[in-house]
Amino acid sequence: MPKITYVDLDGAKFECEVANGLSVMEGAIANMVPGILAICGGSCACSTCHAYIDEAWSAQVGAANDIEDATLDLANERRPQSRLTCQIQVTPTLDGLVVHVAKND
Ligand code: FES
Repeated sequence: MPKITYVDLDGAKFECEVANGLSVMEGAIANMVPGILAICGGSCACSTCHAYIDEAWSAQVGAANDIEDATLDLANERRPQSRLTCQIQVTPTLDGLVVHVAKND
């Protein structure tokens, strides 16, 4: 399974194995990563799964589509690296991915 490292707001690292086909958000919830709330359950409506993709992984992860982009406007402290983790599907090419949890409330 791909390994994903989640870094929380305090800088704590959570190295998690996440099954292919799950979303990066689902991997965070399954591993009880603090700060990923996912209030809408992954339907791209709430922005509380907001995280910053580590710069080394930007190209591999890619950009948000138009729907995600609109929902990201609801997020706190949006940055160029912002993505909604419910919209990123885990694949073998994301093995080693690092995401930094944003301030979600
Ligand atoms: S879980 Fe609500 S937008 Fe991702």
